[in-house]
Amino acid sequence: MTDLTVRIGALTLANPVMPASGTFAEGLGEAVDLNRIGALVTKTITRELRAGNPLPRVAEVVGGMLNAIGIPSKGVPYLLETTLPLYRRWTPPLVVSISAPTVEGFASLAAEISVPGVAAIEANISCPNIEEDGRAFAMRPASTEAVVRQLRAATALPLWVKLTPNTGEIADVARAAEAAGADALVVANTILAMSIDLNSFKPRLGNVMGGLSGPAIKPIVLRQVYQCARAVRVPIIGCGGISTAADAAEYMLAGASAVQVGTATFLNSAAMIEVIEGLDRFCEAHGLSRVADLTSGLRHEEADEDDLSWVSPAP
Ligand SMILES: Cc1cc2nc3c(=O)[nH]c(=O)nc-3n(C[C@H](O)[C@H](O)[C@H](O)COP(=O)(O)O)c2cc1C
Repeated sequence: MTDLTVRIGALTLANPVMPASGTFAEGLGEAVDLNRIGALVTKTITRELRAGNPLPRVAEVVGGMLNAIGIPSKGVPYLLETTLPLYRRWTPPLVVSISAPTVEGFASLAAEISVPGVAAIEANISCPNIEEDGRAFAMRPASTEAVVRQLRAATALPLWVKLTPNTGEIADVARAAEAAGADALVVANTILAMSIDLNSFKPRLGNVMGGLSGPAIKPIVLRQVYQCARAVRVPIIGCGGISTAADAAEYMLAGASAVQVGTATFLNSAAMIEVIEGLDRFCEAHGLSRVADLTSGLRHEEADEDDLSWVSPAP
């Protein structure tokens, strides 16, 4: 039996596996024992009621799926009065994912939901910042630092910050989030993408563009976890295309302390349980008594990670 516990800042999780925000709801408890999962993560909530994007909101593509759900939200009172009491029946820590279009909106929402029953806040900063140019907060270090600093001041709960993979400077964004007080980073959200229906010549998503998730994004996000792990000291939670324990082990070797499973659960409701059991067997097969020993266990010659000249050689 492997020791599957991991530490994410002040929180100790029974194992490193949890759902990715938006791909999980309490109904999964009818199919699997949610008490076996390391932590439970809600769909992102906003303060206001939101309807979400026009239909269709999802489309299957090779290697994954596109979604442009648009964060429909039932608002804060619903979370406090309905969702939180419901989750009391399960033992894993509950992480509440939040989003807002402004720095002030993020901070006040974090303060409002810092109540008993919430173990940590996951700030989904992959959403547009309407006070600037509408680009996601996590696209740039400065806007990341500004929002995380206010979030840090607004809550005493552990603060996880979920980054976007749609930036060319993810290591700098990670450093900014850490400097502003993040306790952990979730790397990452979906990759901006689109698909076209060749019968109608129309986009396959009502919103035209959406986020790609699933196996197709794994090598890209794995690389970003590796870059972030070398840039910061806070724990990293890897998220992107994880369907099996082998995927999770790769993420941990690249530097993740825990992982989130998203799209895979739509195809196989037991995916998270299988990842937990498979990690146990993987560690046993490699003579590791603790799953935490996988983190940053990558064996390689030291390379200068900033030397990207091989990608686009200098003229
Ligand atoms: C249908 C759907 C809804 C999602 N909703 C959210 C959300 O509300 N908040 C969020 O931070 N990420 C959301 N995501 C992104 C996932 O949490 C995750 O970052 C992404 O899907 C990559 O992981 P995966 O490849 O394992 O699915 C959503 C993804 C999907 C597929």
